[in-house]
Amino acid sequence: MSEKTAVAFAPGLEGVVATRTRLSSVDGAAGRLVIAGFSVEELAGQASFEETLYLLWNDALPDREQLSVLGRDLAARRALPKVAAEVLEAAAGWVPLMDALRMSSGTLGLGNGDDRDDALRLVAAFPTIVAAYWRLSQGYELVEPDPKLSHAANYLYMLSGEVPSTERVRALETYLNTVCDHGMNASTFAARVIVSTRSDLVSAVVGAVGALKGPLHGGAPGPALDVVFEIGEAGSAEEYLRARLECGERLMGFGHRVYKVRDPRADVLASAAKRLYATDADRDLYRLALEVEKTALRLLEEYKPGRNLDTNVEFYTALLLYGLGLPTELFTPTFAVGRVAGWTAHCFEQRELDRLIRPQSEYVGAEDRTWAPLEER
Ligand code: ACO
Repeated sequence: MSEKTAVAFAPGLEGVVATRTRLSSVDGAAGRLVIAGFSVEELAGQASFEETLYLLWNDALPDREQLSVLGRDLAARRALPKVAAEVLEAAAGWVPLMDALRMSSGTLGLGNGDDRDDALRLVAAFPTIVAAYWRLSQGYELVEPDPKLSHAANYLYMLSGEVPSTERVRALETYLNTVCDHGMNASTFAARVIVSTRSDLVSAVVGAVGALKGPLHGGAPGPALDVVFEIGEAGSAEEYLRARLECGERLMGFGHRVYKVRDPRADVLASAAKRLYATDADRDLYRLALEVEKTALRLLEEYKPGRNLDTNVEFYTALLLYGLGLPTELFTPTFAVGRVAGWTAHCFEQRELDRLIRPQSEYVGAEDRTWAPLEER
């Protein structure tokens, strides 16, 4: 018997409010993002990642003692359990990084069943998994986590083997804070659906990683920067982008399901990128990217008039992370390093709500078939 739908069919669940959250609010018409009471502009450039994590988990900023306890709890869980490290070694060289993150993080907290401990392990170990796998696949020696460094500083340290400057740590923290949570996006929804079945946090976060890796969600910044590289010089931007749009392709880094004006995160990251590129990155690339953005926006209005396609978070993510020396294959995994804060916070919220998420579907298949035995088909 088909499910009888009581409400209107909403493909992609557009416009459907499935839960209440205190974690973040996305106002797509005004281009405003609030994270646990702070505008993203207020929070991202000032908070350390640990402060943002505490805020999401506890709905308040930590005092000195609370912050240092959280920092210690995370630092103590940075080293990978043996099985998580073995998965990475077995995968090195043939598995893309997001899949390695999915596989290795799936082994964290096995049989543990304690939500807070699972959440700490996931947040603490994500940077270690990403950095270790990246170094393994490059044939570099692994860099052990340094418990004296902050979460963000240690991530850059494990990637490069060098203790990063304050400016670079600030730029990365601004990025991680900017992407830590964003309403009921696809990966967060996936995590909440899994927890709603009373499953564990590790399963929920593994599902979220799988959702994030798709190119319509977290997989766009690499391709967005590739476009800038392929264009090469400002004079070629129009011809290149026009050719892509003529073929019906989407320009990566533009458009958003919710924002119909400029994504506020793009501005926060654009300012952080501007600061970073002013000191120690490739200024020509920065200038070229601005030209590409301007041309893309003009052409999107020409080819898709009235669709309000504007720059999204991924475009400036690409520029900022590249400026930090991260290769494109690290962009989406680094997004996960930030977003795992929001995923775990949503898991806690969903756990408290304890309501199974179970929408309906509208059946459009055949009716009244009669069974034909195999030999008669
Ligand atoms: N380039 C060209 N055309 C676009 C783009 C784009 N980037 N984005 C949307 N469009 C067009 C669509 O082709 C469609 O045109 P049509 O009506 O003539 O068929 C129209 O705009 C509306 O598109 P939808 O698919 O209905 O918009 P949706 O809300 O599903 O899209 C999405 C949102 C998936 C992000 C889309 O804008 C896109 O594919 N962008 C490129 C990928 C990207 O940058 N992803 C990262 C998003 S940010 C994040 O998830 C963290």
